[in-house]
Amino acid sequence: MTINKKVLYLVLTLLTGITASAQQRTAPGLKDGVGIEEIVAGMSLEEKARLVTGTGMRFGGNGPVIGDADGRVPGAAGNTFSIARLGIPGTVMADGPGGIRMEPFRRKDSTRSWYATAWPVSTLLASSWDTALLRKVGIAFGNEVKEYGIDIILAPGMNIQRDPLCGRNFEYYSEDPLISGNMAAAMIRGLQLNGTGVSVKHFAANNQETNRNNVDVVMSERALREIYLKGFEIAVKQSGPLTIMSSYNKLNGHYTSENLELLTTILRDEWKFTGIVMTDWFGGKDPVAQMKAGNDLLMPGTPQQVQKIIDAVNSGTLDIGILDRNVRRILTVIRQLPSFMSYSYSNKPDLAAHAALERAAAAESMVLLKNERKILPLKVKQVALFGNASYDPIIGGTGSGATNAAYTVSLPQGLLQAGYTVDEGLKKMYLEWIDRQKAGKPKPRLILGPVKMLAEPGLSLEQITTSADNNQAAIITIGRNAGEGADRKKEGDFYLDEQETTLLKNISAAFHAKGKPVIVILNIGGVIGTADWRDMADAILLAWQPGQEAGNAIADVLSGKTTPSGKLATTFPLKYEDSPASRNFPGMPADNPRKVIYEEDIYVGYRYYHTFGVKPAYAFGHGLSYTSFRYEKLSLSSSGFKDSLQVTLTITNTGTTTGREVVQLYLAAPAKKIDKPAIELKAFAKTALLQPGRSETIRFTLHLKDISSFDTSRQAWMAEEGSYTVKVGAASDDIRQTAVFQLPKELTGEKVHPVLLPQEKIQQLSNRK
Ligand code: BGC
Repeated sequence: MTINKKVLYLVLTLLTGITASAQQRTAPGLKDGVGIEEIVAGMSLEEKARLVTGTGMRFGGNGPVIGDADGRVPGAAGNTFSIARLGIPGTVMADGPGGIRMEPFRRKDSTRSWYATAWPVSTLLASSWDTALLRKVGIAFGNEVKEYGIDIILAPGMNIQRDPLCGRNFEYYSEDPLISGNMAAAMIRGLQLNGTGVSVKHFAANNQETNRNNVDVVMSERALREIYLKGFEIAVKQSGPLTIMSSYNKLNGHYTSENLELLTTILRDEWKFTGIVMTDWFGGKDPVAQMKAGNDLLMPGTPQQVQKIIDAVNSGTLDIGILDRNVRRILTVIRQLPSFMSYSYSNKPDLAAHAALERAAAAESMVLLKNERKILPLKVKQVALFGNASYDPIIGGTGSGATNAAYTVSLPQGLLQAGYTVDEGLKKMYLEWIDRQKAGKPKPRLILGPVKMLAEPGLSLEQITTSADNNQAAIITIGRNAGEGADRKKEGDFYLDEQETTLLKNISAAFHAKGKPVIVILNIGGVIGTADWRDMADAILLAWQPGQEAGNAIADVLSGKTTPSGKLATTFPLKYEDSPASRNFPGMPADNPRKVIYEEDIYVGYRYYHTFGVKPAYAFGHGLSYTSFRYEKLSLSSSGFKDSLQVTLTITNTGTTTGREVVQLYLAAPAKKIDKPAIELKAFAKTALLQPGRSETIRFTLHLKDISSFDTSRQAWMAEEGSYTVKVGAASDDIRQTAVFQLPKELTGEKVHPVLLPQEKIQQLSNRK
C-alpha cells in the first residue's frame, strides 16, 4: 500500500468513526510500520482517551479484579489498551520488584505451573554494593519477564528508606541516594537488555505507607534535590527506563501524578527522560490534571477517567495537543516492547539456572553484623535450630511486592545439604507447632501490610537445657514481614516481643553455660532494634529476606562456602527514637496523617548519625568478613580539584580465606556557606574475589557534581572553596585512609528550575551552631 492509500484509509476510519478495539485491521497499522504521527491522526478521541487509561480492571461476578486484563498473564497488574484496527497491541504489566507477581496456576492448563523466581528483596541485593551482581540478576529476572509474555515489570522500587518503620522498605534499596540510584540503574539495565521495559517507582517521596494516597510530604528543595530525587535522577540518566510510576502521595502540596513541575520540568526537561509516566494504581484524583502534568498513562484505568478526558477535550479544558502528546509517548514505548514484536514467548524460562543465581546473589549480599571469637564460619556440625522462621523462612515481603515461589528452602534443609546435622526432635516439634498455628487459616490471595508473626512455641527451660546438652551450637532465627498498605509498629516489630526476648535469653544462658555458641539470623524486611539483645548472641547474620533459596543461601554463609561481603546500605540505630525521621513519622495527626514534614531535611540515615554524634548499633556500610583487608597507598591525582579528580588505592586480602571487600569513599566538604553532613558517600566499589595475599587497585573518579551540594539561594549545585577530605574505608565508622584536596575557588555546577518549592516554612534540622 502506498503512503497515500494509508492516509486515505486513516481518513476514512476517522470519518466513519470506527472506534471499537475489537475491530479487525483491514489496513496497515502501527505493527505494519505506519508512523506514529499517522496513527495519532487516525485515532478517534475515544481511542486516544482509552489508550491513555489502562485496562487493568476486570469486572467479574465477584466485583472488580485488578490485573488479568486480556487473560494473557493471569495475576498481572494491568495492560495497555489494544486497538486492533490500528495495529496497536495491548501490552502486559506485572509487579515486582522481588520477582514476577502472577498466578502460578491457570484454568486453561492444569498440567503445569507458572512459577517465577522469588529473588532476594531489594534491600538485600543493595547490601551487596555490587552493581555487576544487580545487572546479572536483572538480566535473568528480565528473561523471565519476557518468557512469561510480560512487557513491563513494575520495578525497581527505589524510594529512600527514610525511617525504619516504612512497611515497604524491603522493596527499596537504601537510605542513601547514591546506592539507590546505582543499584536501580544496574538492575534496570539488566532487565531492559531483554527488550522488556521497567517502571521505576514510586516517583517520588513515597517513604511511608500510612495514608499514602493522601498524605502531603513537605520538604525543602535541598532535601528533595539531594536525597529524594537524586537516586531517580541517577537511574534515569544512567539507564533510560522506559517508564516511571508516579507515587500516590502529595509532594509540597500537589499529587505527584498531577504535578507538571515534577513530571515535566524536572523529569523531562532537566533529566531528559523520554519514556512514559504511569500512575500508581488508582493514584491521584484528577485525570485531566494528570494528562497535563505529563502523567501519560492512568493505571489500572477506569471508564470514569476515559469519560472525563473525553469531556475535557470536548469542553476545551484539555487541549487535544496534550492528549496527542501523551498518546504519542505511549505508542513510542509500545513500539519497543515484546508484544509489539509479536514475540513468541516460551513460558519456560530456565528456572533452575535462575535459582542458582538467586542463591548466590542472596549469599553474596548478606551482612555479617557480629562475629565474636570468629564463631563463624561454623566449625561444629550438630546444631539446634530455634525460631519459627528457621523452619518457615520469610523469603520476601507482602503486597504487590510479593512473589509466589515454587518452593522455599528452609534452614534445616540448607544446613543438611551443607553437611550439618540439626536437632531432629526440635525440628519435629517446630514443624508440628507451625502446622497447628496455620491449620484452618486459608492463605489470602493478597496479603497487605505487616504480618503478625506466628507465636513462638513456649519452650520449657528443660527443653532448652536438653538441646544445649545434645547440640554444639544454637541458631535462632528472628522473622519479620511487612508490605504495602501499612507501616510497621515499634512494639513487637521494631523491637522483639517478650516471647522472643525470653527465648533468646534462655537459649543464650543454657548454651553459654556449656560454652556453646549462639548465632542469631535476622530474617527481616526492615531495620529492627538489636541493642537490647545483641550481647546474648556471639554472631549475628543479617539475611534480610533472601528469596526462595533462603536456607541454602544462609547455609552457604554459615558454612563459609561464601565469605560474607555484604555491607549495610541502611543504618541500624540503637533505639527507634534515634532515627532522625522518627519525630515526623508518619506525620500529623498520627492516626490519619494529612501532612508529614521532613524536618530532618538532608540528615537522613548516616548523614544524621555521623553529623550529630548519635552512635548507631551498626553503622551504615558496616559488615564483617571471614577474612581481613588492608587499605593502603591512597593517592589523589592532584592536590587541587579542577574538573575532576582521580582517587586510587590498593586493597589486599590479609587474611587466610578468599573474600571480597566493599570499598567506600566518603567526602567531608567545607561548610562555610551552607550546612554539610559530616561525611557523604561519593563512590564505592567491590573488589573481585581475592585470594589471601592478593591485592587489587581500586580507582574512583570524582566529578564536580560529586563534590557539590545544592545551594537553595541560587537553585544550583555548588562546591564551596576550601579543603576537602577524602575518607576511604570499610564502613562509615571504619575509615582506613584519608587524603586532602583543595578547591581554591568556589565552583557552580548545574543550575535547575525553581520548582516544587515548599509552600510553608520548615523547621529544618541544621548543624549550624
Ligand atoms: C503499588 C505498586 C504496584 C501497583 C500494581 C500499587 O498498590 O503501590 O507498587 O506496582 O499497585 O500492583
